Amino acid sequence: MSLRLFIPCDSGALAVGADEIAAAFAAAGNSRNLALEIVRTGSRGLYWLEPLVEVATAQGRVAFGPVAPEDVDSLLDAITNNTPHRLSLGPTDDIPWLKRQTRLTFARCGVIDPKSLDDYRAHGGLKGLARAASVGGKAVIEEVVSSGLRGRGGAGFPTGIKWRTAADANGAQKYIVCNADEGDSGTFADRMIMEGDPFLLIEGMAIAALAVGATKGFVYIRSEYPHAIATMTKAIDAARAGGLLGKAIGGSHHSFELEVRIGAGSYVCGEETSLLESLEGRRGIVRAKPPLPAHQGLFGKPTVVNNVLSFAAVPFILTEGAKAYADFGMGRSRGTMPIQLAGNVRFGGLFETAFGLTLGEIVDDIGGGTRTGRPVRAVQVGGPLGAYFPRALFDTPFDYEAFAACEGLIGHGGVVLFDDRVDMLKQARFAFEFCALESCGKCTPCRIGSTRGVETVDLIRTTDDRASRIALIKDLCNTMKFGSLCALGGFVPYPVISALTHFPEDFDATPRQQAAE
Ligand SMILES: Cc1cc2nc3c(=O)[nH]c(=O)nc-3n(C[C@H](O)[C@H](O)[C@H](O)COP(=O)(O)O)c2cc1C
Ligand code: SF4
Repeated sequence: MSLRLFIPCDSGALAVGADEIAAAFAAAGNSRNLALEIVRTGSRGLYWLEPLVEVATAQGRVAFGPVAPEDVDSLLDAITNNTPHRLSLGPTDDIPWLKRQTRLTFARCGVIDPKSLDDYRAHGGLKGLARAASVGGKAVIEEVVSSGLRGRGGAGFPTGIKWRTAADANGAQKYIVCNADEGDSGTFADRMIMEGDPFLLIEGMAIAALAVGATKGFVYIRSEYPHAIATMTKAIDAARAGGLLGKAIGGSHHSFELEVRIGAGSYVCGEETSLLESLEGRRGIVRAKPPLPAHQGLFGKPTVVNNVLSFAAVPFILTEGAKAYADFGMGRSRGTMPIQLAGNVRFGGLFETAFGLTLGEIVDDIGGGTRTGRPVRAVQVGGPLGAYFPRALFDTPFDYEAFAACEGLIGHGGVVLFDDRVDMLKQARFAFEFCALESCGKCTPCRIGSTRGVETVDLIRTTDDRASRIALIKDLCNTMKFGSLCALGGFVPYPVISALTHFPEDFDATPRQQAAE
């Protein structure tokens, strides 16, 4: 008898023992004389079920999880004898959490072998690049513009407009840079794509290169992602061997080369201009804009800098057409957003869906509330510089403008839950502290203001004159918001002011935990 198993090699699955499970299956298969083929995939993104093991059947894949090494023998018994098992989750595609999603970008993640270009092609890959090569750069840009795709790295700038600017810029040499620094707390979608569907990112970057006339690209990956670095590096080699990179990409006359570059662990190196400084071999310090990177970016040449998810959305847009993408979403937020649920959450993972669900649906319904089972008190959306939302704002739709109207941001789609024991004064302090640690030091409001912010928050619990301290924090936030050169200093007011506005009761003399006891 032969069996085909799928076991993730995604970092999240490895962290809970996926390698040990794969080894246990291989050993058990040997001792039973079973012809076992184990395909290492990315993750499906249902992290509370990892390690998730799938088995190919005539009716499609069926899933089991979370699997421990001691489950392997009984699982093999159940699979080979076709009997029930307590870890059985049924057909993978019918798992409600997965079935409710609209997976345009993550359609292949967890499904294919990330090392195999053939598998990528067999699951619909490379069609976008072929179409891009046949319609030419100008038409590609128009398609991306009309899809309504906005940058998924945080700022939400229209991707097609950025590409048009770089295409129109003068310069014999142009670059494509992928921002895979993914520094936001609670986010992991970029990593999942790089580990689970790396050719998708390469295809998206190749389409961008063709569109703007760039011949060289870099993927800037944070050093904390060793598995993503290894998978991307291998995928680039395979892409070169398979004609996706190199000369005449996708049957065009255009050549495009790609390299991985590794960051050194700085949050501000995710900011596009300090990323470019870092790529050029200097310390990651923010550059003043203008000039925009699309005019003068890497080594002073026109450069497109986009997030992993922005590039990864493009092959679908080229394959299925701009309208197919733009038909999803609401208002000016078109298409889908890979939402990442993290923190104290029951069902943590990757949930790709059209824009427009309310925050409450995402937190209570999809996330299932907190893992501790206690009430959700606050939700931070958009990374460490995102606002904290109280339950009173849970009817806010997941949409760039709706979040901005509530003094918040969607950012890279990270949604981090906190239960009723969270101390919001500590969270406000953390925002200043984080900024002080990560500040590049170029401008005063951020470099000095963040440290003064920590000191002033500390005084709230040690002095009687709390009102004047809070007024000072608000004043400081105003200076940082309008006086900072980049969004690191400029966005610290989001978490601080939202904590003050929605949870004023925490800004008194008694630490929250003690008050609750
Ligand atoms: C402090 C700071 C950190 C950032 N970190 C990231 C990051 O890790 N990944 C990312 O894609 N964008 C990050 N950005 C946003 C980038 O500057 C830039 O807007 C983005 O790479 C553009 O790509 P997009 O249009 O596809 O989103 C950061 C911005 C700031 C101010
Ligand atoms: S806001 Fe902070 S990180 Fe940004 S340029 Fe100023 S000092 Fe640097």
